Amino acid sequence: MNVASNIHDLRRLRAELAEPVGFVPTMGFLHDGHLSLARRAREECGSVVASVFVNPTQFAPTEDLAEYPRDLDRDLALLEEAGTDLVFTPSTESLYPDGYDTWINVERLTERLEGADRPTHFRGVVTIVTKLFNLVEPTRAYFGQKDGQQAIIVRRLIRDLDFDIELVVCPTVRESDGLAMSSRNTYLSEGERAAATILYRALQLAETLYADEDRDAARIRSEMEEVLRSEPLAKLAYVSIADAEDLSELDVVDRKALVSLAARIGETRLIDNTVLPPGEPLV
Ligand code: PAJ
Repeated sequence: MNVASNIHDLRRLRAELAEPVGFVPTMGFLHDGHLSLARRAREECGSVVASVFVNPTQFAPTEDLAEYPRDLDRDLALLEEAGTDLVFTPSTESLYPDGYDTWINVERLTERLEGADRPTHFRGVVTIVTKLFNLVEPTRAYFGQKDGQQAIIVRRLIRDLDFDIELVVCPTVRESDGLAMSSRNTYLSEGERAAATILYRALQLAETLYADEDRDAARIRSEMEEVLRSEPLAKLAYVSIADAEDLSELDVVDRKALVSLAARIGETRLIDNTVLPPGEPLV
């Protein structure tokens, strides 16, 4: 496995890789969710490139950039084990040099859900993903359903800017009690960790109601909210049942829907989602 810590080395090593190239962008502190993307890319591609870069432009000034967990040596060992050929570990200064002034914005899709609570977040995500696509020039890009809105936005970016890249969205990997794996789970105290399972339980309720033929989105949302309110450590940000194409809120669940929610458990903001009908691919 090669490691490129600057753009020059990345381009040189990328040129030698066997096609098709699968690309897994990450912010590091890897867990089985990230590694499932690398393993899937390994199965489907001639070579696998991953990036590890904690992208400052997707954090708001009040958010946890400085505290974001990092362990590059461990990440490199895990990526090598998963069959990665090349890891890009750029510095912040190399991707955002002094005077950096260009932003890519997907407009409407980024105003909703996570974007409503975090107004500059997706501008940072879309800008860094665009830069990484230009640098790595992958055939396929692997993203997790865990960040459902992000995957829908990247699909729009690829279409709108004519990237010749196939988007592959992989299922959310969960702990045995249902909590979606996330680097942020490391912030949870023992009590908060137990309380955090409430997110998945609310999503399961939506799946059960749907299976019982309930298609009334307002009723499903309010029953999910009730489940979340039953957990004293959880502070709900939103529950959404939205059209999986344009993220508009649905009244009736009569098409593919992204059911998503965000809640603070103590100080830690967690997100999770599921798709209705259950088992349908998000993208
Ligand atoms: P990060 O949070 O590190 O996630 C990297 C990729 O791993 C994303 O596509 C995310 O959806 C996926 N992922 C995270 N947890 C997962 C889980 N439990 N199951 C399956 N996939 C999971 O998302 C980002 O980084 C950044 O926004 C990035 C795209 C790298 C741009 O900076």
